[in-house]
Amino acid sequence: MSSGRAIEGSFHLTGGDFTNAGAASSELKSILTNLGISLAIVRRAAIATFEAEMNVIIHAVAGVMYYQVTADSIKVILNDMGPGIPDIGLAMQEGYSTAPDWIREMGWGAGMGLPNMKKNSDEFKVDSVVGEGTTVEIVIRIKEESP
Ligand SMILES: Nc1ncnc2c1ncn2[C@@H]1O[C@H](COP(=O)(O)OP(=O)(O)O)[C@@H](O)[C@H]1O
Ligand SMILES: [Mg+2]
Repeated sequence: MSSGRAIEGSFHLTGGDFTNAGAASSELKSILTNLGISLAIVRRAAIATFEAEMNVIIHAVAGVMYYQVTADSIKVILNDMGPGIPDIGLAMQEGYSTAPDWIREMGWGAGMGLPNMKKNSDEFKVDSVVGEGTTVEIVIRIKEESP
């Protein structure tokens, strides 16, 4: 990729739409793969963005996943309208989940989404306003192959 140029785009996400769950992160994964980004980095991005996408579908009403890829990094911002997160520190703890039983019966709601997003990101930020929504920012650096 020529330096200085960014590849960017966005996907709309709809809360409760389990039929299309994972479509945005899956399409982003194809875009990153087609850009020639290494498998290890694509995999980290795929895990982090899938978890972030699922959180909008499970916990929020609607949202947008925006991505920007440069020669140096993959930046993904998820902005949703939803209930927000009252205690981000608590939500970040492994195993903490407010997902209802019917979500758990679908195999979601293990409370590992936010911790896994952080683990697979180089920079990770959550901002939330209760009653309004949540913004998640994921940055994954693309390391140059050493010569
Ligand atoms: N986008 C969001 N909107 C509202 N609440 C959220 C959002 N993302 C996460 N949360 C809250 O943080 C908790 C932990 O999230 P996560 O670690 O992904 O676990 P899980 O999604 O399995 O519950 C959720 O149960 C929910 O209470
Ligand atoms: Mg989750």
